[in-house]
Amino acid sequence: MLVLDSAVTPGAMSVRLSFGVALVLFLSSPVRSEIIPDEVHHMECHDRYLMIAADLSFTGNNPRFVAVDKKGLHELTKPYQAKCGYSITHIHLLNLVELRASFFSCHTENINDQVFMFNIHLITMHNEVEKIYALNKTCSPSVPWSPREVTCEANYIEVSLGNEVSCRSRLQRDELNSTKVMQSSVASDWQVMFQRADEQMLPMNLSQAKKQGYMFDFTDGRLVFRTPYEQPECLLVQENGVPVEMIHATLFSKQGWIVLMVDLVVACSMYPGSYENGYVIWKTPEILFPGFHSTKINMGLNGNLVEQQAAEQKGYTVEVKDNTIDVGIPNTAEGGYRRSFVVDHLYEFYTFCLCFEQVLMDNNGIETTLRFHRTLMTPLLPCSVYTENQTNLEDHKFTVYVGDVPEDVELTSIHLNGHERQVHCTNKCSHNITRVSYHNNTHGYILEVPFDDPVALCQYLEEESVLQYSLDINYTLTVKTQSKPYYHLASIVATFTDVSPPVFDVDCLETGISFKLGHRPFDFLWEIFIGSEPLTAELATHRGYFLSNNSQSLLLEVPLFTDGYEYTEITLGGFFGTFTILMKNAGTSVAQTSTEKTCPFSSNELIMCSTDGRITAVVDVSLVMSHGGLAMGTKLLDKRCRPKETDKTRALFSFPVSSCGTMVKIGRQNVTYINEISYQTSLNVRSGFLDNATERVGVQCTYPLSGLYLLFSKIRFESDSVGVGKITHTLPGAGVHTSGLRGPIRSTALPQTVPATKKPPSKPALFMGADQPPAQFFKVSKFYNYARNYERGEYL
Ligand SMILES: *[C@@H]1O[C@H](CO)[C@@H](O)[C@H](O)[C@H]1NC(C)=O
Ligand SMILES: *[C@@H]1O[C@H](CO)[C@@H](O)[C@H](O)[C@H]1NC(C)=O
Ligand SMILES: *[C@@H]1O[C@H](CO)[C@@H](O)[C@H](O)[C@H]1NC(C)=O
Ligand SMILES: *[C@@H]1O[C@H](CO)[C@@H](O)[C@H](O)[C@H]1NC(C)=O
Ligand SMILES: *[C@@H]1O[C@H](CO)[C@@H](O)[C@H](O)[C@H]1NC(C)=O
Ligand SMILES: *[C@@H]1O[C@H](CO)[C@@H](O)[C@H](O)[C@H]1NC(C)=O
Ligand SMILES: *[C@@H]1O[C@H](CO)[C@@H](O)[C@H](O)[C@H]1NC(C)=O
Ligand SMILES: *[C@@H]1O[C@H](CO)[C@@H](O)[C@H](O)[C@H]1NC(C)=O
Ligand SMILES: *[C@@H]1O[C@H](CO)[C@@H](O)[C@H](O)[C@H]1NC(C)=O
Ligand SMILES: *[C@@H]1O[C@H](CO)[C@@H](O)[C@H](O)[C@H]1NC(C)=O
Repeated sequence: MLVLDSAVTPGAMSVRLSFGVALVLFLSSPVRSEIIPDEVHHMECHDRYLMIAADLSFTGNNPRFVAVDKKGLHELTKPYQAKCGYSITHIHLLNLVELRASFFSCHTENINDQVFMFNIHLITMHNEVEKIYALNKTCSPSVPWSPREVTCEANYIEVSLGNEVSCRSRLQRDELNSTKVMQSSVASDWQVMFQRADEQMLPMNLSQAKKQGYMFDFTDGRLVFRTPYEQPECLLVQENGVPVEMIHATLFSKQGWIVLMVDLVVACSMYPGSYENGYVIWKTPEILFPGFHSTKINMGLNGNLVEQQAAEQKGYTVEVKDNTIDVGIPNTAEGGYRRSFVVDHLYEFYTFCLCFEQVLMDNNGIETTLRFHRTLMTPLLPCSVYTENQTNLEDHKFTVYVGDVPEDVELTSIHLNGHERQVHCTNKCSHNITRVSYHNNTHGYILEVPFDDPVALCQYLEEESVLQYSLDINYTLTVKTQSKPYYHLASIVATFTDVSPPVFDVDCLETGISFKLGHRPFDFLWEIFIGSEPLTAELATHRGYFLSNNSQSLLLEVPLFTDGYEYTEITLGGFFGTFTILMKNAGTSVAQTSTEKTCPFSSNELIMCSTDGRITAVVDVSLVMSHGGLAMGTKLLDKRCRPKETDKTRALFSFPVSSCGTMVKIGRQNVTYINEISYQTSLNVRSGFLDNATERVGVQCTYPLSGLYLLFSKIRFESDSVGVGKITHTLPGAGVHTSGLRGPIRSTALPQTVPATKKPPSKPALFMGADQPPAQFFKVSKFYNYARNYERGEYL
């Protein structure tokens, strides 16, 4: 029931309104209320509202609020909030629920518009058990009331007018169609009529309006009108690109012959916010109410208002263009909320709870204060997580920094070249991850992976002499509040140039060749081979090399006549021995370089069995023959075969196995070619076959059968490997066919087993007086007795 307090004199036009409420007795059962811990809630009085914030982790996700007044409990459902001056938002970024209750909210006790007593229950569910927390707070306006105040809340518009304005406005805006008013306002009750542009709607009484979601209230000194947004009676317009919602209501009451009228025009910018170069932009028309001018602007975040100048000093921008106020809030503004978000890429967005206050003045000096509560959000902005290659080749490890990782993002897993590695190493790890934090709310991680870590890929580019270690890193970064991870990828390559195979220092020794090698970091890229065999301690022992290897250097000495030598230019004066070491790429097993050393050597005797089936032997005949100085007279079994070269005591023979009467002995696994050097006097030269000398030097070459091709071929001999040669010396006094060969045998001091140069089979060389009858199979039978004696061991 509305009552006009005092008589209204037409001249003064001063009206005092009051709202007497019929007392409704509402007996609610007594509520058992719990004490809410201080750390999980916060209550704060602002200029025109009370703010209550509660921790969602305490309240659960769906806390309820109930307003309590003398009439009872009022559940604050969504439509009821907008109608009654409450606004509840969940700020998930802060894990908070926030309630803002207007001083004029329906269930707040108002004492003379100066003291407002709030009594609100927060209801939570803990394990299906409902708990009630009573929250009481008393607030007083910190700034005096303006004659007109408009609040554009998140979910409603509220306007309050002081008494004086309520009456004056009738004079200034006589927009009502008086005929219509007179026709419909028969009752003495207040009526309200909405207008939209030129369209006037039918008047209705306040209870009808309330049913439609509007709220009118008369406090001690103010008329309060509240409407949710987007009511059917509202008008949406664009002003210079800024959407504006307006509502125009006229209240009137006929009291006898007086008609009281209150014209209520409210408008709010509905600009949703935009984003430009690091600023969130919010706009509002400079003059929302015609006939007014703007005098003052205050703004801030989360209800903390400062004057325009102070805001600008904090980095906010305020610009007026096209009759529009543009407010820019920098991303980094204090009070903004930031969160990371993953959709394929890593993004971040900022949320700002902007409070904007504008004081407007009309020509009569009547002030209107306009307040906005707007939640503004940036679009998803790409996050600038970056990787930096801090690798220093000398450290022999990858050092990779990933930086600008936002505070709400953690490294949860890491894959190095596809292999998962622990972020927080518990056991011994070869890699190392160190977290680095900064004051600007970002952090980074330093990853260290030694080049010799099994996950690191190593590639040697032979042609460029370049060694590359590469590491593909897949960082799994997880936003704390989101399960979907973001994969940040980086590929790091560390390149060593001028990486070439090791080079030996080589020296000729009197009895062999020495190879020396100082170890270098990348020697593991190569393997040392001798022929087809890798150099190992076993091989060295087996072949009679001397090998010494420590962490600094490797020394290999190969004595003359050991496996691996090749001999060339054999003369009585000396010969050349060549030893070759191969460096094979350990990965591809392809020989990359070889170290070949040829040294001159001399030896009293030697025998060489070449792969093309040639026996080359230097024999010292003086060891068995007393006819010193007559080496020139020596011959092979086929007497036509004479030495190539002789000096006083020694003769050099060189002949193919298929010639010079060479005997063939075939064993199970090898074949042996045997010949004999004997002395021929001038006498028996003349008498041809009357030779009776018993001093002989045996020469023989044994080839493994498995390595031979085309055995007994007339054309050529070919063996995989050189043969094993042997020289035996038989002193006079022994018969050839019987025990003669069993005579004392002397070996020369140096090893006699001399492998020959492996050459492609060549044309047989011409021999002194030799007609080269090729060895043929029948020759074996001719020398069968010899062969049999060999088998019986009698020859030795
Ligand atoms: C809150 O206020 C109501 C009445 O205004 C009172 O009954 C209640 O005890 C108060 N509760 C607390 C916790 O102060
Ligand atoms: C006022 O309303 C009456 C009746 O609805 C109508 O005839 C008249 O034209 C209106 N006047 C104006 C100025 O709108
Ligand atoms: C308001 O108007 C409705 C419909 O015209 C009517 O039923 C109701 O009684 C009125 N209420 C008051 C308080 O006059
Ligand atoms: C990892 O790096 C940190 C910082 O450089 C160092 O203190 C730590 O000893 C390292 N851990 C290992 C296992 O190398
Ligand atoms: C944060 O601080 C670090 C260290 O001063 C700097 O390297 C980095 O660029 C800063 N990040 C941002 C986003 O400002
Ligand atoms: C990165 O790691 C994740 C998880 O193992 C995987 O699903 C993703 O395919 C990886 N990305 C690339 C480019 O290897
Ligand atoms: C990383 O740093 C190393 C050492 O300074 C360098 O060799 C390499 O080229 C760098 N770049 C990349 C992309 O890995
Ligand atoms: C020699 O020693 C080095 C270092 O100890 C080792 O890497 C290399 O394999 C050794 N080489 C041979 C042939 O044993
Ligand atoms: C020839 O083969 C026999 C076995 O049949 C073997 O004992 C002998 O050592 C071989 N001779 C040579 C020189 O390889
Ligand atoms: C070889 O035989 C001849 C005559 O038959 C003989 O005069 C000579 O002494 C013999 N020589 C040897 C070394 O036995």
